[in-house]
Amino acid sequence: MSNSNDKMATAALGTGGPEVGVQGLGCMGMSSAYGPTTDQGEARAVLERALELGVTLYDTADFYGFGENEKFIAPFVRAHRDEVVLATKFALWADPENPQVRTIRNDRPYIRQAVEASLQRLGVDEIDLYYMHRRDVNVPIEETVGAMAELVAEGKVKHLGLSEVTAGELRAAQAVHPIAAVQSEWSLFSRDIETHVVPAARELGVALVPYSPLGRGFLTGSFVRADSELSSDDFRRTMPRFTGDNAEVNAALLEPVREIAQQRGASLGQVALAWLQQQAQVHGLTVVPIPGTRRRSRLEENAGATRITLTADELTALEPIAGKVAGGRYADMSFTSAGRE
Ligand SMILES: NC(=O)c1ccc[n+]([C@@H]2O[C@H](COP(=O)([O-])OP(=O)(O)OC[C@H]3O[C@@H](n4cnc5c(N)ncnc54)[C@H](OP(=O)(O)O)[C@@H]3O)[C@@H](O)[C@H]2O)c1
Repeated sequence: MSNSNDKMATAALGTGGPEVGVQGLGCMGMSSAYGPTTDQGEARAVLERALELGVTLYDTADFYGFGENEKFIAPFVRAHRDEVVLATKFALWADPENPQVRTIRNDRPYIRQAVEASLQRLGVDEIDLYYMHRRDVNVPIEETVGAMAELVAEGKVKHLGLSEVTAGELRAAQAVHPIAAVQSEWSLFSRDIETHVVPAARELGVALVPYSPLGRGFLTGSFVRADSELSSDDFRRTMPRFTGDNAEVNAALLEPVREIAQQRGASLGQVALAWLQQQAQVHGLTVVPIPGTRRRSRLEENAGATRITLTADELTALEPIAGKVAGGRYADMSFTSAGRE
């Protein structure tokens, strides 16, 4: 009999990769993107509680809060260095004065400078999983992964990951150095990667780390119209799915999620996360979603999804949702892998 304090199951993060809890923790929202973190103490408590529940993969990036998110989690990571699998990323940056104008760098000098800055902010000697956050198409992927592999050889990084890459880019990268994980958006609302990236990852023994597995909170039913319900600096106000008529159309798509949740006495978010977790069996690869939250009650709820197994009928009822979603994942899709496959 399992109870809410039991540690969740674990899985290997790619061939030869570290063993991690089957659900990780996204830390981005603690320092950026989704409005101010009014209760920093509660966010810190989330980091501690996650570990008790068996969450071991903690996800950050140098870009989140322009280094602030790495600094925020640093004391926790140092206090639990042997238990935590620390993932961070390089490549994406912006001028803090003008954050809408973003740059992507994948060249060797940039990577070497970025890793040193991350190590310093995190206060660790080694990063467990270092991702290329976004792809700079001006630099061959082999060159980028070659520079990342140097960091492994030098003991600054243990494992390599890629975010928002195509299947072709993943194959080219894997030919240079083993890739433990691909991190890309994957949820009931965003299933594009199932066509090429997921089959390539399965074939190569690479794990999938779905980001925004709760559709940035929309799949929990906690908001409908970002433009009127969320704070003025919330990034979701720029996202076509969560604004105007699209938001109303997309909220109606949650009906089957709500029905399943009601029948099971679960939350909408738990159904969304359970669906994603089950894609591991559907596609035959390791899947470690990294839902983000700043509240322990939500963390516990999300972790509870790892104990839910949806029936074949429930999976069928959820199947048509993604195909009906109105609006793109981002306002500017040029910063994603879309259109490069
Ligand atoms: N590689 C990339 O390009 C990329 C892009 C985006 C995100 N990420 C990573 O993926 C992680 C997760 O993605 P995400 O944060 O964008 O989206 P998400 O996990 O789908 O959703 C996070 C949002 O949902 C809310 N939430 C969480 N649990 C909830 C619950 N049980 N009930 C109601 N609301 C809930 C959170 O609010 P509160 O925080 O207020 O609880 C937050 O606003 C990030 O933290 C980041 O590490 C990576």
